[in-house]
Amino acid sequence: MSVVTVGLDPAYDVAVGPGRLAEIGAFVADRRRVAIVSQAGIAERYGDVVRASITAPSEVFLMGDGEHAKSLTTIEDLCRGFARWGLLRGDVVVALGGGVVGDTAGFAAASYHRGISIVQAPTTLLAMVDAAIGGKTAVNLPEGKNLVGAFHQPIRVVADTDTLQSLPPREFRSGLGEVAKYALMYDVVADPTGLVDVLRTGTTAILDRDPTVLGDVVERCVRIKAEVVAADPFERSGLRAQLNLGHTLAHALEIAYEHRLTHGEAVAIGLVFAGALAGGCERVGTDVVDRFQAIPASLGLPTDVPDPESATAAGLLDLMARDKKASGGLTFVLPGPDGLELVEDPPAAALRYAFESVGITGEDAIT
Ligand SMILES: NC(=O)c1ccc[n+]([C@@H]2O[C@H](COP(=O)([O-])OP(=O)(O)OC[C@H]3O[C@@H](n4cnc5c(N)ncnc54)[C@H](O)[C@@H]3O)[C@@H](O)[C@H]2O)c1
Repeated sequence: MSVVTVGLDPAYDVAVGPGRLAEIGAFVADRRRVAIVSQAGIAERYGDVVRASITAPSEVFLMGDGEHAKSLTTIEDLCRGFARWGLLRGDVVVALGGGVVGDTAGFAAASYHRGISIVQAPTTLLAMVDAAIGGKTAVNLPEGKNLVGAFHQPIRVVADTDTLQSLPPREFRSGLGEVAKYALMYDVVADPTGLVDVLRTGTTAILDRDPTVLGDVVERCVRIKAEVVAADPFERSGLRAQLNLGHTLAHALEIAYEHRLTHGEAVAIGLVFAGALAGGCERVGTDVVDRFQAIPASLGLPTDVPDPESATAAGLLDLMARDKKASGGLTFVLPGPDGLELVEDPPAAALRYAFESVGITGEDAIT
């Protein structure tokens, strides 16, 4: 069990380990009411343990499953439910679930009474290592993903690694895509975070969801995310953009495949693409290009697109240029001699090579 501090003002802790859900009550003991936002399946499994730890009156507010539930309609439903129940500004919301619950409950908490406290209790691997930390909250519009949101830091994050045991296999694998990203963010030979070594020696244990090894992996990823968030809380200095390694192509793939690829699967393919693109730009050697392929592959993640007919390079380039995070042209986070950097409009030959590395070939459209 460990605690990682996110060094913001005010600072908050991320508690990682087994049995952590039962600690939520102690942390909200000074609150008058506790609103728990969750989804039916998660509340059924883990709602009682959270509620049993809370002495103040608590109520579970259920929301739907999937991206379509991350909507302004859900925000209205939740906030109206809070109001009917009498939730006040000094009370607290607990987000119990994956990134969909965390992002939605987070935005509801950011807006309700102009902002009330939230405890993030992530129950997916992806939410533990990424979504629950850093205060980014948002819902989707029909026009695009995460278009309406706010920065609203939690007062605490409680990552109970026991909950990972009930995660469906594909959701677990999806979280491993982000784990692979963290492993590749730094010099994997020097391995300053120790994450690469844990992945190398513990691959089987991770895939078998060994609680000790998994807890160690989550903690190391949380440390990286906490450090980056503390250095760039509002995504202004460009540092936090490093967390988007592999994500430029990933976002485009998610749209092109109409979410038949999970986020983590798309990130894994995006990492292979980013490594190859950096190689094509002569920023790194083939050893790095190979590692950007080998680490996602070792975690059982896809390293090329499932059916290449579904996605053309031209179509993906168009989607990448429209990404809301793109500041004009095509921007990629790529490894290089000085670490990760933003690279704009890479040469056509490098793009072609990168597309080929993920199984998209025969593209003369890139000029
Ligand atoms: N705010 C951020 O910084 C940030 C970062 C990354 C991703 N996100 C967002 O996170 C969302 C994706 O989150 P996700 O991958 O956690 O998916 P998710 O929240 O949709 O959860 C996946 C599925 O697993 C179920 N589930 C969750 N925990 C479970 C458990 N312990 N046992 C059994 N089933 C469980 C959920 O009900 C759901 O059906 C996206 O909307 C993405 O935009 C946000």
